[in-house]
Amino acid sequence: MAAAVPEKTDTPILEPDRVPKHVAIIMDGNGRWAKSHGLPRTEGHRRGTDNLRRILESSVEFGIEILTIYAFSTENWRRPPLEVRLLMGILEMVIDRELKELHANGVQIRHIGEMDGIDPKLQRKILYACDYTKDNTRLILNVAFNYGGRDEIVHAVRRIINAGIPADQVDAALIGKYLYTGDLPDPDLIIRTSGELRVSNFLIWQGAYSEYYATSVYWPDFSKEELHKALVEYGHRKRRFGQTDDQLEAEE
Ligand code: IPE
Ligand code: IPE
Ligand code: MG
Repeated sequence: MAAAVPEKTDTPILEPDRVPKHVAIIMDGNGRWAKSHGLPRTEGHRRGTDNLRRILESSVEFGIEILTIYAFSTENWRRPPLEVRLLMGILEMVIDRELKELHANGVQIRHIGEMDGIDPKLQRKILYACDYTKDNTRLILNVAFNYGGRDEIVHAVRRIINAGIPADQVDAALIGKYLYTGDLPDPDLIIRTSGELRVSNFLIWQGAYSEYYATSVYWPDFSKEELHKALVEYGHRKRRFGQTDDQLEAEE
């Protein structure tokens, strides 16, 4: 994780007001990375997990405040049972191995997704990690695990109904509050590695006006320089939110 003083960087400085506050990443391509190196998928997941450390450090260094990572989707249960077990084991291992250091570096861990379906022992670990780091403010790390965007909206609707909220009080802001990311701003930038051009059920509500960035680089190879490239490109994007360029210029 990042030291208190950011390490000296060889990547050009980004303009602070152009750095996205909230970045979300679909960490894809572990399996193909492994295949391309003649290794088992397991090794791809191991290397992908190691890479997370590097990206967390770089995120802090670049001034990102919230990082949301897609680690296990509601659809990933459809994978072979052995691989599912491995992915569950990885989260457990990361919590065991990294929690102290993440905490020391001011990372606030949050879980987004459904707890139901996750092994109770792992559930307890996730809750412990979130509670242990809840007062940290340097970086919010949302771990999307057993997460699906449609599932999230279904749960939000159920909770709204259970809370007895009348239909005429339901608007987009209210639905947003009932999502797992309720108190956080929407992602400014959503990155997908491995060349796929789809959202795979990730932040489908919150991503309504996010900038998307796709790279063919597989997740284990997605380095600090690759993240920097994504941020530079984001810095050149013009976000209009439905307005015209003239309107935006008048507001500046
Ligand atoms: C991302 O890599 C990790 C998870 C989805 C958990 P993949 O395992 O999807 O790798 P590919 O897409 O098969 O290469
Ligand atoms: C998305 O990747 C989920 C995660 C990165 C955790 P997948 O590899 O599961 O997505 P699809 O199946 O190719 O759409
Ligand atoms: Mg994949």
